Amino acid sequence: MVVVLIGYMGSGKSSIGRRLSKKLDFDLIDLDDFIEEKENASVKEIFESKGEIYFRKKETEYLKQLLETDKNLILSLGGGTPCFGNNMDIILSNKYAKSIYLKSSIPKLAKKLIKKKAKRPLIAHIQTEDALAEFIGKHIFERMPFYNRAEYVVNTDDKSKDKITKEVMKLL
Ligand code: S3P
Repeated sequence: MVVVLIGYMGSGKSSIGRRLSKKLDFDLIDLDDFIEEKENASVKEIFESKGEIYFRKKETEYLKQLLETDKNLILSLGGGTPCFGNNMDIILSNKYAKSIYLKSSIPKLAKKLIKKKAKRPLIAHIQTEDALAEFIGKHIFERMPFYNRAEYVVNTDDKSKDKITKEVMKLL
């Protein structure tokens, strides 16, 4: 089984992924980390030197590759992964994949991301929490149709990481 964690930047895909992998004893792969390792450059560097289109091509290529595993795996995606190419179709048509959308509210995302934006090329230039919330609002509106195609939705607001992890485990 591959548990595919979907959600906007800052929604907790990586941290919930780590907890799930420990509790379930599944391997864990963070797609951004995998891309960085394979491309020998950080996401920020790839965006800067080769551009977003190159990054998106690689993202789809590695997503397909990782979904071919025959192991039990937790796969946390990048925030944009479901929204490009036919990535959501690829995920949904894989009979071993379970997709879970970790849904967080805009204010919670803005509060978290304002401190963690440097490594994220799409938001690194935004200066204030208010401006970031405005950006996220518009961006999520565009992305929502893709995220909502996930098989399951777990709301993360005001829940501990443990509670979110348990809720995800119940769905599997
Ligand atoms: C992106 C999210 C990032 C990373 C890249 C683009 C996006 O991943 O893939 O910066 O388009 O939302 P995280 O969601 O892990 O920050």
